[in-house]
Amino acid sequence: MPPAARAGERSFQLRWSGCGSFEARFAEVAFAFDPYFFDAELRAAKPVYDYLFISHEHFDHCHPPTLGRLCRGERFEKLYVSPGCVNPAQPLAEVYGDAAFARDLPITRSIPAQRVQVVYPEVVSSLIGTGRRFPPNPALDLERISVEVVESGENATPDLPTCGYLVTERETSVSIYHTGDLHEPYPELQALAGRVDYLVHMKTGLTEWRGEEHTERLLQLVDWVQPRFLIPTHYRTDRRSDPIPHGTWPPDVTDANAFIEWIRARVGNRTTVLPFTAGVWYEIALPSLEVAWKWNWRPTWEAPPWRP
Ligand SMILES: [Fe+2]
Repeated sequence: MPPAARAGERSFQLRWSGCGSFEARFAEVAFAFDPYFFDAELRAAKPVYDYLFISHEHFDHCHPPTLGRLCRGERFEKLYVSPGCVNPAQPLAEVYGDAAFARDLPITRSIPAQRVQVVYPEVVSSLIGTGRRFPPNPALDLERISVEVVESGENATPDLPTCGYLVTERETSVSIYHTGDLHEPYPELQALAGRVDYLVHMKTGLTEWRGEEHTERLLQLVDWVQPRFLIPTHYRTDRRSDPIPHGTWPPDVTDANAFIEWIRARVGNRTTVLPFTAGVWYEIALPSLEVAWKWNWRPTWEAPPWRP
């Protein structure tokens, strides 16, 4: 559970819960992007979200066991999904890990259809094709949040887009942009410029040591969107707090500190990098947006272990 704010303090909570799974809880509304839980975390998952947003149908983003736990009860209102999550004739033509489309899709096999809403990008990438037109979305100007659907990119085709989401919470005006598995930024993202507090960063523009050079894409994304904060996600570590079982996508980084510091050094003063640890609820003060970085010493031995 997220930490409770003290009386008189205003705050909200954010959590990167592993892979591309990201959750936000405000006083009046709670929502999550690509929720993806396992084991004890999955068994403990409660329907505490009003809205859920799915970027694309890959198993690590559109996860029926997790959605089955979250998309029920009185509070839950709607699961917003990219078109490939519901149309079994359209899923991305790819065998991807253990993603068995025939088993998992359409997602309405697991979630009642009246609680699922397909959405299409309103901000559309000119890199994927020109002159593309998608069906208009239902009103996404909801009572407590507003939602803009922003094209993502992984394995998208001109007719089958994948979705990122810019969600703005009305009471606080805090905005969160979850990119989905966006590999390459596109100029139309400039429509978001200056309107994003938190950019949940996933795949764009990462360059391994001695690896293929992609840094320009990261800088382009940040220059076009101009987020106030950037939160790296969609990587694994072997830290205890990482809830993703070993062997499950995405891969480990060999040195998480170096990975974060590489991003921080590259983006420079364009934005502020927030090095969230997977599985930890972070409390954000309002209106300052200051993160409460909570940590304690945890002794690992009482007496030096070399003493008999
Ligand atoms: Fe992914």
